[in-house]
Amino acid sequence: MGNLSRLLKESWTLVEEQQDKLAGYFYARIFLDNPQVRDLFPVQMDVQRARLLGAIVTAVQTLDDPDRFDDYLRALGRDHRKFHVSADHYDVVGAALLESLRTFAGESWSIEYDQAWRDAYQVIARKMVAGADADTNPPFWHAEVLRHERRSRDIAVFTCRPMEPLEFKAGQYISLECRYQPRLWRVYSMANAPDQDGTMEFHVRALGAGWVSSALVRRLKVGDMIRLAAPMGSMTLDRQATRDIVCVAGGTGLAPIKALIQQLTRYNRTRWVHVFFGARDRDDLYDLAELNQLGAKYPWLSVVPACDKDPTFVGEQGTIASVVARYGPWAEHDFFVSGSPAMVRSTLRTLAELQVPAVRIKYDAFGDI
Ligand SMILES: Cc1cc2nc3c(=O)[nH]c(=O)nc-3n(C[C@H](O)[C@H](O)[C@H](O)COP(=O)(O)OP(=O)(O)OC[C@H]3O[C@@H](n4cnc5c(N)ncnc54)[C@H](O)[C@@H]3O)c2cc1C
Ligand code: HEM
Repeated sequence: MGNLSRLLKESWTLVEEQQDKLAGYFYARIFLDNPQVRDLFPVQMDVQRARLLGAIVTAVQTLDDPDRFDDYLRALGRDHRKFHVSADHYDVVGAALLESLRTFAGESWSIEYDQAWRDAYQVIARKMVAGADADTNPPFWHAEVLRHERRSRDIAVFTCRPMEPLEFKAGQYISLECRYQPRLWRVYSMANAPDQDGTMEFHVRALGAGWVSSALVRRLKVGDMIRLAAPMGSMTLDRQATRDIVCVAGGTGLAPIKALIQQLTRYNRTRWVHVFFGARDRDDLYDLAELNQLGAKYPWLSVVPACDKDPTFVGEQGTIASVVARYGPWAEHDFFVSGSPAMVRSTLRTLAELQVPAVRIKYDAFGDI
């Protein structure tokens, strides 16, 4: 561990147990001195759900070699344009961060710690500002909802069309905001490959207490305008690749997989594509009919659905990772994995056991794994 990294981790332990109070102080510091910055943040903001402080602390501690994360930080800075963040805000936030740390660490705080946080924050902030400055795209796009369909109790599929052209690649995701939860942005994967008509399809599952997902499933309707930020993600196809493909999708993790399949229907003739689609019960296999139609149309495509909590389901039983393990061998295939953090974690574990080299696996988890 480098010296900087050691100082950051060591000093964080001084305040770790008072994180919630520190967060309260941090936001109060920013908003008291700069009331206009409050408008950048969500309306209902409780400290547990507020994301900025946690994100900065994680970034400062984990990106100990910021040059290696140059692309990520530039993209993060570009993405911050959707929050209306400007270069000046970085100084305000950086000062509040240091003051909060100092206050809560008390007497154990040292000049070395101060300098370590200041340096780490500054390098990251500079890269983010550079990324934002270099971006020629709009900070976000307005898009109109064209279709909205409830596919199960908790799942909706909707389509929208951006008012201005928005380029993306099959397999990518995008940050999205709707008027029912202003200033709360969440990422969702496009479920289609880019098309002439510019439409974009999304598959969303409402999580119990989830703010944005519930609004997108239960309240969004045709004619609503939503906002979309720049597309991100590298779970995309390499046209030169020749290996056969295995796609493993859990629930609405099917969205980016569906986009990849659609892209492949435009040119693929030589690669076998095996899709494993897992869910708790039959109801959650919300897009199986369409998948099966594609499987019937394209000889290179096979579809295996599975449920792990529905004994009445006629088909494979068990977690999708265990079902994948029953098929195979897979050591020569390219993998695409998408779904909840738990599902992605268990699939990656299974693939490691099956000796699939990590470089052949691209994945998107719907959260930290
Ligand atoms: C790369 C990527 C792509 C994604 N693509 C999609 C996609 O295509 N489709 C899709 O539906 N989602 C997708 N997600 C997830 C999405 O971004 C949101 O995290 C999700 O919709 C929840 O947002 P929310 O505002 O509703 O929940 P929040 O208000 O942010 O709350 C979510 C938090 O609440 C907790 N929680 C509340 N209720 C539940 C529950 N019932 N079960 C489990 N946890 C719960 C969890 O701790 C979770 O961290 C993707 C995420 C990532 C990172
Ligand atoms: C080192 C500097 C910074 C880093 C590493 C950083 C990182 C992040 C990340 C990763 C998120 C997303 C969290 C998520 O949605 O899961 C986020 C959210 C956010 N950031 Fe930053 N950020 C930085 C500076 C700033 C600054 C200067 C501002 C302007 C005041 C800002 C405003 C926001 C806002 C408004 C959100 C959304 C908050 C929410 O939804 O609760 N960020 N930041």
